[in-house]
Amino acid sequence: MKNIETFTVDTKQQGAEKLVELISNELKANRLQVFGLATGSTMEPVYDQLVASDLDFSQVTAFNLDEYIGIPADHPNSYAYYMNERLFSKKPFKKTFIENGMAEDLDEECVRYETLLKENPLDVQLLGIGENGHIAFNEPGTSPESVTHVVELTESTIAVNSQYFTEDETMPVTALTMGISSIMQAKKLVVAAFGENKRAALEKLFAGEVSAEWPVTFLLKHSDVTIITDLKF
Ligand code: PGA
Repeated sequence: MKNIETFTVDTKQQGAEKLVELISNELKANRLQVFGLATGSTMEPVYDQLVASDLDFSQVTAFNLDEYIGIPADHPNSYAYYMNERLFSKKPFKKTFIENGMAEDLDEECVRYETLLKENPLDVQLLGIGENGHIAFNEPGTSPESVTHVVELTESTIAVNSQYFTEDETMPVTALTMGISSIMQAKKLVVAAFGENKRAALEKLFAGEVSAEWPVTFLLKHSDVTIITDLKF
């Protein structure tokens, strides 16, 4: 596929190294003023390696893809907490943005976030993929026209992400997420998918047919996508 470049690696660790190399290239070529970040287990080694690197993000503005509704930024399972712990407290950025899942008016919060994105167009957006093909929290059925919005998480996503919540914590079942259209505005998309549980989603992508049932297939419509995976097809 001419718009998609795929790098196949042997391990997740190697994949993270490749990702950091790509980020470093963009940064050094002065093509990374606004950086879209993702959370999840896929990105953990990436942030570890970014922290260990000598890369300078002090002139870079960061936007995160999504956040749970109803848990505060200091909750260990919020994505604000994840980002602060893993990256921002160790690597200074110029500015960092994430949706406020505690906002009183969630619709207003979506408009605020989307306006910020319009004012700061994304240069590079990192993406993981859900087992069900979601990108950010855009679950199957999401419109390609969607901008930042409130979502109800699917059973599949709840089942996968509930592993991070302890028994006496209730996992949120709603979230705020950049929409498909918000993500597609980024000049460059860098997607990482490691492990067999991501095979079905990548297979759908490589099959080359766009379908809202597998949101990851919307990437077929973007002009600059890089995929890093340990899966062999
Ligand atoms: P994971 O999540 O990195 O924890 O696999 C990715 C996603 O759901 O987008």
